[in-house]
Amino acid sequence: MTTTHFDTAARDWDQRPMSLQLAAVAPCMLAQLPLSPTDHVLDFGAGTGLLATQIAPLVAHVTALDTSAAMLDVLRGKGHANITTHCGDIFAGLPGHYHAIVSCMALHHVADVGALMQVFADALHSGGRIALVDLYAEDGSFHGDNAAKGVQHLGFAPEALQALAEQAGLRDIGFREILRLQHRNGRDYPLFLMTGRKP
Ligand SMILES: C[S@@+](CC[C@H](N)C(=O)[O-])C[C@H]1O[C@@H](n2cnc3c(N)ncnc32)[C@H](O)[C@@H]1O
Repeated sequence: MTTTHFDTAARDWDQRPMSLQLAAVAPCMLAQLPLSPTDHVLDFGAGTGLLATQIAPLVAHVTALDTSAAMLDVLRGKGHANITTHCGDIFAGLPGHYHAIVSCMALHHVADVGALMQVFADALHSGGRIALVDLYAEDGSFHGDNAAKGVQHLGFAPEALQALAEQAGLRDIGFREILRLQHRNGRDYPLFLMTGRKP
């Protein structure tokens, strides 16, 4: 696999000002996501485990999926016994079925989000939930060098994402703002939490 922006950034990822702010995502998400100690959770685009490491103590198992081996190396170094890393593209297939699928700041790297919602729906157990965090629509100034960072979407309009999720068979879709990221460019970028359920 070719080296990506994330492979290069992995070693210092957790110390970035953005990552320090993103640490607040997991508690906000967990307040909206019912989980049980027997659950198996998938973290899509898990990176160094900002979400996975905070969810793992609450559930039976977390699968941390990412295309970047270097990001997952950092996560494995944190030594969580019930987190399994899986290095690969989500469209290459998933190793199991899940009670919840979570994600933080990975959706905007996927060109075909409709296909992604279908992968999520197919991989959830009946009654399983999604909890997905990403940027509301922005003007491209968040990443700046969008092409170099593999950005496929300049954030999202909730109604467009909702339509794609419903086409995939997910229901009870909801959105709420959960965090505003303070950028070094002086601007604030709001993040949404998208929740939903497989009937
Ligand atoms: C902006 S990082 C976010 C990492 C972590 N969730 C966080 O909040 O710090 C996006 C991650 O998604 C991963 N990613 C992007 N597209 C992917 C795909 N198709 N399959 C698996 N992982 C993917 C990237 O390698 C990267 O680690």
